[in-house]
This record gives sequence, structure tokens and C-alpha cells, in this order.
Amino acid sequence: MVGPSPGATPPQAHGHGAPGGPQPIDGVRHVIAIASNKGGVGKSTVATNLAVALAKDGAAVGLIDADITGPNLPTMFGLPAGFQANSEQGLHPIQRYGVKLISIGFLLPPGSPVVWRGPMIGSGVKQLLRDVAWGELDYLLLDMPPGTSDAAMSAAQDVPIAGAIIVSTPQPVALEDAAKAIAMFEKLTVPVLGIVENMSYFITPDTGQRVEIFGHGGAEAAAEDHAVDFLGAIPLATEIRAGGDEGRPLVEFLPDGAVAAAFRDIAGRVAAKADVLARMAPPQAPIHTPAHARPAPGQPPAGPAPSSERSII
Ligand SMILES: Nc1ncnc2c1ncn2[C@@H]1O[C@H](COP(=O)(O)OP(=O)(O)OP(=O)(O)O)[C@@H](O)[C@H]1O
Ligand SMILES: [Mg+2]
Repeated sequence: MVGPSPGATPPQAHGHGAPGGPQPIDGVRHVIAIASNKGGVGKSTVATNLAVALAKDGAAVGLIDADITGPNLPTMFGLPAGFQANSEQGLHPIQRYGVKLISIGFLLPPGSPVVWRGPMIGSGVKQLLRDVAWGELDYLLLDMPPGTSDAAMSAAQDVPIAGAIIVSTPQPVALEDAAKAIAMFEKLTVPVLGIVENMSYFITPDTGQRVEIFGHGGAEAAAEDHAVDFLGAIPLATEIRAGGDEGRPLVEFLPDGAVAAAFRDIAGRVAAKADVLARMAPPQAPIHTPAHARPAPGQPPAGPAPSSERSII
């Protein structure tokens, strides 16, 4: 069961509530980032299916497409690009498959690039977190862009993140990047909930043979090396890819198969871990701020760079 439990922890009991540090979003219990350093390993696919799995289990779930320059969630949820471009309400979340979803892709006609510098991207992510009426949520998932980036830093400095899920494929070049993502979240004092191995294996449709295209067990070994949990393996499967392209998340449309069960298991582990971490919230862990970015003694913290203040909402 991943939904809210009676007597569950108060909203965002995770640490980092110190004045000037990350501040909880009213009504939002757990903010969870889905990340990797490498592109194309399945972050958005995992975020989509975990969000739907959590919602199907009764939780109130929000999902932010924090990939400001490469938003894919509208497509993965079957929403046409740019459908809010002329909306008088501006950008706002849409309820789809039980998930409250927001993406800058709702504003962009197909093919329109977002050409923004890093600080603007950070500011955009903050707006998606803060300037949206999320209401009561058990989980607010963040689908992060690839890289150890402005989006992750801004999010971690703005809200207490309950934990990060690192997605990797099994081969060493992907795991090298996953290790960097783990290191980044450690620097940001965000707990790593664990690693998901995506595209872990392929079952041939004709013979049922298991083929490990990208090698075997890499993410599990990496999880052990980095002393983080292994959350589970998702196969390489045509129906996952097709579900993403057609806006039909597998967990919603093929809920009875083994692949959906794999996503649901991971969702259950993530929910349980986030809840446990919230109950053991450390005393106000400060967010790591690089020395050059700290204010001089007696000086107020620097405000946001003016160039970053482009409103997307
Ligand atoms: N387990 C899987 N089986 C089959 N196809 C998959 C699987 N996971 C992801 N894909 C497909 O791989 C492509 C990349 O996945 P996705 O967009 O989720 O990756 P990403 O890490 O979010 O990429 P980016 O770094 O660009 O944000 C998509 O076409 C998706 O449908
Ligand atoms: Mg993505």
C-alpha cells in the first residue's frame, strides 16, 4: 500500500526546514526527484509509470516535468504539445491517469525549443514547484533533466527533497554517470532512495529467452558500491516504448503484466522509504552551499540573479 496511511507523517517532515533553507510546500508531503546524469536512460518513463502506480494505489500524486529544455511528459501522458499556449489561465496542472501533471511543454507548440541559460532554468523549476496550487499531495515527483544541473540544484535549494531515485541502464558508461548523480545529491544533502535498473533485460517474444543486452547486474553492484538501495529492475520492452510514444503509460494500460508489477514494486519501495525517512527526519541538515556562493559574514544572502526571473506561469 503506497497511499496515505492514517496518522501518516505531517507534510514534509523531511529535514531542511531551517530559515533561509529549503521550505516545504504547503500540503505536499514528499518531494521525490527522478534523476540520472546520463540522457535517455528512462527517467521520464520511470517517473511516468511510478507516478501512475502511486496514484492507482490511492495516493495523491503530482508530477513536475523539470526538464525545461526537453519536456517529454506531455507526449508520455498523451497530451498535445502547446495545448495551453492560448489559455487565459497560463500554465497549470492537468489531471491525467490520476496524476496532477505540469510541463512547460503545455505551452510550447511542437518543435519550439526553449533556449534558456542555467539560472533561468533554475528559476523555471522553482516556479513549477512554488507558483502552482498543488493542494494536498502525498508525493510530488520531479522528472529531472539529464546532468548534474541547475534544475536539480534549484529544486534542492528551494524545497526539502525527501529523496532521489537514480535511474540507470546496466552498462558501465551509464553507471559512471549514475555515480555522479549520487554524488551530486549527496552534496545537496538529498538522500538517495536507491537505483532503478532500466532496460535491464529483454525477453524475446518468440522463445521467451532472457537476453541481457547491456550486461548483467551493473546497477545492483553499483548500488552496493555506493551503499544505496537497489530498488528494482525494469526490462527493455516494446510495450514500454510504445506506451511512452502513444501517451499510454504501461502501468495504466497493461496493469496485469509482469512489467507493470515491476513498476508497482518499485513504487511500493519508494513510498515505504520516503515514509521511513520522513519519520526519522534529521535535524535541519543544511543544504551544501559552495564556498564561493556563501554570503560574507554579516552580509545578507544574495537574491536571485535578475536575469533568472522569467515567469513561465
Ligand atoms: N524499459 C524500457 N523499454 C523500452 N523502451 C524504453 C524503456 N525505458 C525507456 N524507453 C524508451 O527510451 C526512450 C528514452 O526514455 P526516456 O525519455 O524516459 O529517457 P530519459 O532518461 O528521460 O531521457 P532524457 O535524458 O532525454 O530526459 C523513450 O523512447 C522511451 O520510451
Ligand atoms: Mg526525460
